[in-house]
Amino acid sequence: MSEDKARHLARLEELNAKALAGGGAARIEKQHKAGKLTARERIERLMDPGTFVELDRFVAHRCNDFGMQDNRPLGDGVVIGYGEVRHRLTYVFAQDFTIFGGSLGLAHASKVCKIMDLAGKVGAPVIGLNDSGGARIQEGVESLGGYAEIFLRNSIYSGVVPQISAIMGPCAGGAVYSPALTDFIMMVDETSYMFITGPDVIKTVTHEEVTKQQLGGAMTHNKESGVAHFAFADEESCILSIRELLSFLPQNNMEQPPMVPTDDPVDRADAELDELIPVEATKPYDIKDVITRVVDDGYFFEVQPHYAGNIVIGFARLGGQPVGVVANQPMVLAGCLDISASVKAARFVRFCDAFNIPLVTFVDVPGFLPGTDQEYGGIIKHGAKLLYAYCEATVPKVTVITRKAYGGAYDVMSSKHIRGDINYAYPGAEVAVMGSEGAVNIVYRQQLAKAADPVAERAAYVEQYRETFANPYRAAELGYLDEVIVPRQTRQRLIQALKMLRNKRQENPARKHDNLPL
Ligand code: HXC
Repeated sequence: MSEDKARHLARLEELNAKALAGGGAARIEKQHKAGKLTARERIERLMDPGTFVELDRFVAHRCNDFGMQDNRPLGDGVVIGYGEVRHRLTYVFAQDFTIFGGSLGLAHASKVCKIMDLAGKVGAPVIGLNDSGGARIQEGVESLGGYAEIFLRNSIYSGVVPQISAIMGPCAGGAVYSPALTDFIMMVDETSYMFITGPDVIKTVTHEEVTKQQLGGAMTHNKESGVAHFAFADEESCILSIRELLSFLPQNNMEQPPMVPTDDPVDRADAELDELIPVEATKPYDIKDVITRVVDDGYFFEVQPHYAGNIVIGFARLGGQPVGVVANQPMVLAGCLDISASVKAARFVRFCDAFNIPLVTFVDVPGFLPGTDQEYGGIIKHGAKLLYAYCEATVPKVTVITRKAYGGAYDVMSSKHIRGDINYAYPGAEVAVMGSEGAVNIVYRQQLAKAADPVAERAAYVEQYRETFANPYRAAELGYLDEVIVPRQTRQRLIQALKMLRNKRQENPARKHDNLPL
């Protein structure tokens, strides 16, 4: 090799080594001591071994204020590139807390935008591993502009490529809005937090005392606010879960989600299902038992398991076909729809529809949750979100009424009237405006007031109403149900329906965009 060539190579090696060293050994040690991996270690775990290709490794900031001209670390606090997750192309950016606390300046932001634009052009998911002190203070408005450029891309690529955010450190102020605009937020317990204004500002303004974790830790956002979708004990399990989640999703909105072959027989009948649903309309049971008994290999990847437990959402496969499952949960609030449940499920339904993932809905719903809290909180507009989401969805929609489907909630939960493609019910299902007792109280109020034996008469009316409506056959007579099925057949029937619907094509009228009730 000539001397010149050797020098060129040595220079490249030197720069590479410098970039790979991040913020230096001491800061890396501090990161590890805090229970956190570095940006590169995270990417290594996310991508299939040997597939990651880094871009913009030598990008540096161009700020000349506050002594920044003397400190231009290579990479500018974010590692970007592409690689494979389970052999599928995936883009990633990972903020490097060891360089300026992962804070975001213009060059850092431009790198994130570059990877997002590539993902948008090519059509593959973007994973953001967030660990940042926020807007780089020395760069002022340029960093705010940088954030806005990212927000813009989060928005215009929403529904085009899946976007997943992992929060693995601080995420404060306006910075929270990039993750908030993405499809799923994962948080690591104890080491991550998200808030708009921190504990100090809150103390000054409202005199409340709260810790960072109480205010914006993983469980706060998984349980209380519903901002996050998943919480993990450590970064390793968080990253594994991102890989798992991606396995259910298509690369972009033009593709179908990937089929995964299974040995679980299509016609596997589960006799336990025949016994699982209690006859009494008010007796609780765990809808997750129904879901896991029906789906491939009993594997249900639940989303937002800690929030609004009265509705269950998540991904599963049926005959290898990924599906989005939405199910009322009789174990929590009797499976009522309330504000939180409606918003939780609506966003999930819209995600599935955007990415061609068929919807399977299990219905056992007594109605909307009554109360001033709910009415003042706007259950009308929030409940409308779920209704709207189901109405506009054009993916295959298959519904199973396991027991109760009362009132407006019957219509909302993927009913035939809002383009449910195949609607099943179990033989014990009740499709009615309300339960028999409540119905009799209203319809026969005057007769009962005058009755000689109101108890006996009431019982007779209840029985009559039950006979007429507390079964699935009136709905079946009208074609609102396509079939009344024996519960043990659920898996087979769902797979048959999904197979039949595989080439479903349906479009809504052309418009600039819809006006979802926000
Ligand atoms: C520049 C920053 C920085 C920032 C941290 N650093 N945040 N540099 N701009 N925003 C640097 C620190 O100076 C330090 O540099 C290194 O990163 C690590 O920070 P430490 O404070 O030592 O770490 P730690 O104790 O873990 O605390 C982390 C932290 C704290 C909680 C994030 O650094 C902090 O409060 N930073 C300021 C956060 C903030 O107010 N950001 C603006 C938010 S508003 P050295 O060289 O010592 O290692 C915002 C608006 C976005 O982001 C708007 C979008 C529209």
